[in-house]
Amino acid sequence: MKQNIFDDPQFFAGYQAMREAGSGLNAVLEQPAMRTLLPPVARLRVLDLGCGVGELCRELLASGAASVVGIDLSEKMLECARQFGEGIRYVHSAIEDFDTSAGSFDLVVSSLTLHYVENYSDVARKVFKWLVPGGFFIFSIEHPMATAAQGIHPGWIRDDSGHKQYWAVDCYQDEGQRKSTWFAQGVTKYHRTVATTLNALVDNGFSIVRVLEPHAVQRAEQERPELLDERRRPPFLLVKARRV
Ligand SMILES: C[S@@+](CC[C@H](N)C(=O)[O-])C[C@H]1O[C@@H](n2cnc3c(N)ncnc32)[C@H](O)[C@@H]1O
Repeated sequence: MKQNIFDDPQFFAGYQAMREAGSGLNAVLEQPAMRTLLPPVARLRVLDLGCGVGELCRELLASGAASVVGIDLSEKMLECARQFGEGIRYVHSAIEDFDTSAGSFDLVVSSLTLHYVENYSDVARKVFKWLVPGGFFIFSIEHPMATAAQGIHPGWIRDDSGHKQYWAVDCYQDEGQRKSTWFAQGVTKYHRTVATTLNALVDNGFSIVRVLEPHAVQRAEQERPELLDERRRPPFLLVKARRV
């Protein structure tokens, strides 16, 4: 089931404030790691699945992409994206409902979105069709170690004085829907194992080029020592796959 949580006013306000303050892990972990996986984008036709406010779309266009299409389920996110999105085609659609002709793109990217999608294998199948042979599918998701826990509050287990003891992983093999509270109650994500995530690509004809589980760079860790905790458990999984 598709949940458009980013259009929930309380969720949207919290999420935007986090991104604007740079207090999330996007800018320090996910975005730098994602950039290391990108091929030279000059003259490529690019599709961004779950483009949000269009940061990556704008960067890809500025780097010389021939065309950039961003799709997203959230009107609010697209409204922000369109304010600075000259030259980019934004499509209001769920990833699950989007389709286009075979070989339309040279590169498909997706940042921190596919854990909101129930049928990930179907997305992998469609992306394979949309890409030209040799094209890349590069995406990040919340790490399965971060999405696994079910029925307990996911996250750090703390001692009586609030110090982080360890990160709770549970129900790892029990794939499917997870409900959590993140800016709003009842946020729906989908947990899949690392094996399922990678094998869906292989089963749909991709070869896996690179897998990343990033931590922050040293300078960021010196400026924000709390980022050292991100070495204790992997918050994100990034995959670069190539259409054979
Ligand atoms: C965490 S945000 C990431 C946005 C952007 N990719 C970035 O990294 O800044 C996830 C985005 O995925 C979108 N999204 C969630 N489920 C979706 C779905 N089923 N189809 C399309 N977009 C979806 C949300 O509306 C939101 O904009």
